[in-house]
Amino acid sequence: MRHMDTAKRYGCEEKLGEAIRESGIPRSELWLTNKLWPGDYGYKAAKKACLDSCSQMGVEYFDLYLMHWPGSMRPGCSNRELRAETWRALEELYKEGVCRAIGVSNFLVHHLQQLKEDCSIVPHVNQVEYHPFQQPNHLMEYCHQEGIVFEGYSPLAKGQALNDPTVLQIAEKYRRTPAQICIRWSIQVFGFQLEEVDMAALGGLHDNRHVTWDPTNVE
Ligand SMILES: NC(=O)c1ccc[n+]([C@@H]2O[C@H](COP(=O)([O-])OP(=O)(O)OC[C@H]3O[C@@H](n4cnc5c(N)ncnc54)[C@H](OP(=O)(O)O)[C@@H]3O)[C@@H](O)[C@H]2O)c1
Repeated sequence: MRHMDTAKRYGCEEKLGEAIRESGIPRSELWLTNKLWPGDYGYKAAKKACLDSCSQMGVEYFDLYLMHWPGSMRPGCSNRELRAETWRALEELYKEGVCRAIGVSNFLVHHLQQLKEDCSIVPHVNQVEYHPFQQPNHLMEYCHQEGIVFEGYSPLAKGQALNDPTVLQIAEKYRRTPAQICIRWSIQVFGFQLEEVDMAALGGLHDNRHVTWDPTNVE
């Protein structure tokens, strides 16, 4: 399975579509995640944007489609109402099979709680910044309890974790690269296991730093 995680915002849908066709890999062997940008929030705009993204990439469906950000980025507009209206469009796209799974990104607990009150389908996924410096444990617990898959992004903290003395020390101990240690800490794969003491040392690096964007003040 090949996993591509893109977004309309990244501006590369057409090129990715070309690459997919050139690869000759059957669509069924690809996992394509795409994201809806806040400029396209709203019922009609969201539906149109998703279908446009499909045609840009030359595909008939997305395996996962996410609302990219909890804020509407429109002054004077109720974020909560626009999120709910947008989510209803995603629910329909899901029922129509255009999106095999639907989710959100950068949503905090209060955004998820509001969506639960306002809509009927619980997001399948919440994609959130996650690395040793950014460990939103309460949000993770909430997602787990609500049956929402917690998907971490920026596992290397955009490279910032790779020079951290604790990460370097543990990498030396296991004879692995700092990047492997960070990813191993996140998901426990790679055929080696970090001892509890090292998991705890990495767990202690949380300083609430965001290396991308911070949704804390989004109502
Ligand atoms: N939903 C959202 O709002 C959101 C936001 C940000 C990212 N994401 C998702 O997260 C994914 C990747 O995020 P990210 O780029 O921030 O990830 P990251 O893994 O934290 O950072 C990648 C950076 O680390 C550097 N790096 C150094 N050593 C590396 C190594 N051994 N292996 C890989 N990278 C190394 C790379 O530098 P070089 O480029 O110089 O190689 C690159 O700049 C994307 O699929 C994206 O869709 C989502």
